[in-house]
Amino acid sequence: MKRRPSLDPDLEEMRRLGHAAIDRIVEHLASLGEQRVARRGTASEFAALVDEPLPEEGFGEEDSLRFFFERVVPSMTRVNHPRFHAYIPCPSSFAGALGEILAAGTNPFVGSWLGGATVSSLELTVLRWIAETVGYPSDGAGILTSGGSIANLVALAAARAKFGRETLDSGRMYVSEEGHASMNRAATLLGYAPDAVRRVPVDDRLRMKPDHLRRWIHEDRAAGLRPFFVCVNAGTTNTGAIDPLEETADLCAELELWLHVDAAYGGFAALTEEGRALLAGMDRAHSLTVDPHKWLYVPMGVGCVLLRDAEALETAFSEHSDYLQDLPPDEVNFLDRGPELSRPGRVLSVWMLLRSLGRRELARHVEKDFRLARLAADLIRADDRFELVDEPQMTVVAFRHRAQAGETEEHRAARDLELMEKTLADGGLMMSTTLTGGRTALRFVVMNHRTTEDDVRRSVASIRELS
Ligand SMILES: Cc1ncc(COP(=O)(O)O)c(C=O)c1O
Repeated sequence: MKRRPSLDPDLEEMRRLGHAAIDRIVEHLASLGEQRVARRGTASEFAALVDEPLPEEGFGEEDSLRFFFERVVPSMTRVNHPRFHAYIPCPSSFAGALGEILAAGTNPFVGSWLGGATVSSLELTVLRWIAETVGYPSDGAGILTSGGSIANLVALAAARAKFGRETLDSGRMYVSEEGHASMNRAATLLGYAPDAVRRVPVDDRLRMKPDHLRRWIHEDRAAGLRPFFVCVNAGTTNTGAIDPLEETADLCAELELWLHVDAAYGGFAALTEEGRALLAGMDRAHSLTVDPHKWLYVPMGVGCVLLRDAEALETAFSEHSDYLQDLPPDEVNFLDRGPELSRPGRVLSVWMLLRSLGRRELARHVEKDFRLARLAADLIRADDRFELVDEPQMTVVAFRHRAQAGETEEHRAARDLELMEKTLADGGLMMSTTLTGGRTALRFVVMNHRTTEDDVRRSVASIRELS
């Protein structure tokens, strides 16, 4: 490769490469719905495609672009695909991707006010916009994180700062049996023993049982333990179940406990009237996790936690460093609100999306996802070989094969797993499997602005055909 004065190519070449990269991305998006969704492969198969020795002399950007689009993309799992119905999809949008390009191209530092005041200021605006979007008070504090898992960690760290380090010995926190594993990971990372997290039983719709919660809290207090933190789900990962938010908020207010709502999956349902009604009470949380890289259609790498108590948050994270003594103490230095110092302009994808498209347009797509999830449920229910685990409370359709006469549960479950594998091998759609009440089930999620009614009909037709 030709020597350059800096690592950058000359201006004309930069333009040419930039246009070439965008052209490739647009081509990829243009045919997304007709590409295969995903494929299984072994480490050696994928290494054969992408592994190379460390280049001593570079191949040049153009060759690297070609390599990526020819060798990596064809075998990628496409979470942007309109028929990616597995896990909780993280589909991005072109506006979100453009924001990320702005962040990568201008490289703001968003850890401190002095390091990047305009983009920090933009993050404060976006935090307010997100709060307004989901109906949460916007006069508290918040921070954009790399995802929902870190948002849950930040919330728990703030609660620990509020309730004291004594909770490390005898603190108890409560999350439903269906709650996300990131809550346990957060507790472990913050130094809590495994039995500090109590998994509260759920009802027949897989929602936390508040009576049970109340009983356990009283029993734990009577045993000299310190209940301090309750995490409820605004849309569980497994089935989209919404825990009783108002009732738990009343309980936490009465017993003076920190209420955290994990709305990483479901929070942006509040863009719509239907979602707001389902999530009534979410605004009463002390802390709230939402995940813009899920139902707000920005590229992966953006979660968010909003809190009422800015002091608890800053107590949890601020540390004095001599080399940062020039920072203005009265402004928001995001390094005091989370675990990172150097922080990227992850705000820019959310800002670009919300500013370019506006709340109403996003709401239209969330509404459509609700409608298409109900359609999927109806189409699946219409085939009497299947049964729904529950009516979808959000946009997860959990279902399973009905047991055939005399069939063991093991054999029935094997047919669920086999169907998932067959759809994966077929490549036209992707689902995932889980366990509910100890029984295997399939999960079909609709959460993508690119998914049309035709996609849902096509996916369910494949499921029926391959079953
Ligand atoms: C309810 C819930 N909480 C937390 C998370 C973790 O979020 P992330 O994957 O962004 O770390 C997820 C991810 O699917 C989730 O569904």
